[in-house]
Amino acid sequence: MPDLRYKVTPGGQLTGHVRVPGDKSISHRSVMLGSLAAGVTEVAGFLEGEDSLATLAAFQAMGVPIARPEPGSLVIQGVGLRGLTVPGQPLDLGNSGTSMRLLTGLLAGQSFDTTLTGDASLSARPMQRVVDPLTRMGARIDTTATGTAPLVIHGGRELQGIDYVMPMASAQVKSSILLAGLYAHGRTCVTEPAPTRDHTERMLAGMGYPLQREGRRVCIDGGHSLQAIHIDVPADISSAAFFLVGASIAAGSDLLLEHVGINPTRTGVIEILQRMGAAIQVTNPREAGGEPVADLHVRAAPLHGIEIPSELVPLAIDEFPVLFVAAACARGRTVLTGAEELRVKESDRIQVMADGLVKLGIDATATPDGMIIEGGTFNAGCIDSHGDHRIAMAFSMAALRAEGVIEILDCANVNTSFPGYADLATAAGMGIEVVRS
Ligand code: S3P
Repeated sequence: MPDLRYKVTPGGQLTGHVRVPGDKSISHRSVMLGSLAAGVTEVAGFLEGEDSLATLAAFQAMGVPIARPEPGSLVIQGVGLRGLTVPGQPLDLGNSGTSMRLLTGLLAGQSFDTTLTGDASLSARPMQRVVDPLTRMGARIDTTATGTAPLVIHGGRELQGIDYVMPMASAQVKSSILLAGLYAHGRTCVTEPAPTRDHTERMLAGMGYPLQREGRRVCIDGGHSLQAIHIDVPADISSAAFFLVGASIAAGSDLLLEHVGINPTRTGVIEILQRMGAAIQVTNPREAGGEPVADLHVRAAPLHGIEIPSELVPLAIDEFPVLFVAAACARGRTVLTGAEELRVKESDRIQVMADGLVKLGIDATATPDGMIIEGGTFNAGCIDSHGDHRIAMAFSMAALRAEGVIEILDCANVNTSFPGYADLATAAGMGIEVVRS
């Protein structure tokens, strides 16, 4: 892959109306569950990013006819729970942890074998967290000696429901087990230590699959079926988060983010920023396709440091790279704890962010499960994103408050979650030059 760098001009402000691309988590699930449903599922607002397209390609390789009549719209001819066919080759899931973990559960219940591969980052991420519970259900899954991909998932296994208490707050693990539960005898229950995104549960229920939810526990029985529906994917709050922070820290900003998903399992970023003093208004709340959405109005405001409450961590888990940038622009100290999961994302987001902040002149200290950041001023500098899309976008927002140009290396993976990011940010008032070499 050619190197792609961002050169971001210091200063600027964010104004106008912006609609960021569709929600990544919901886009993945729309393809997975639409493929397994009976009937034709139409999807609007689908994220045409590399991660969700990897999921789409995997289901096409397993015999599901999926048409893309126009950008962002899918027509999926569902094949039913037992209708997938053996793919001719390993399924390459690129950078996408969601594709790999959810597919592992879903494929554990098929009649055929599959092999799942990914890029260098995905091949280093922990998969034992799904392999262990799935093995308890009766699945047979081979990993490398260190519990990573490539994964070989053996088909033709009889799965049994389990009652699983998850050791970590992970929507991917929960969803993987629930998808295997569709194929299991009896009841499968998952209890999570803290609430995590519930898009799988909402979409299963929306497609008519019976499931029971009580507090942090969700149960499903195998053997029912899914009915095709129309899915309207809202804009991704995780992508909107860059603009929420950018407009908060850049003097004179006044921005409206349109049709953003505000599922309460995802809105930690709004609450954390509001606690820091941000001026964010949630306007025009409504529902789209079983998910709450709203327009978010954000204006520049002076931020102050806070201790981030640990219960908000899983509700903002993907937003910490850019929240660290907000903390670096805030008056005083911000402390994050209880976020060790950040170390096993697309990069080690604690270490990579701390290194980048320090390089730009910020007093930031990585801790085993979080970070301590003293507000300060960004110098000019060159940052290595380590191929992590959210690190690249986070540091581009830092330029709004920097004293010189910020250059960011290894930005091609922004396309995994936010195709068109540089153009959209430029239209809103930033100066991002994309340099290919
Ligand atoms: C996701 C769950 C989260 C999140 C990821 C998407 C999902 O991962 O970080 O970007 O769609 O289920 P974990 O389950 O590992 O926390």
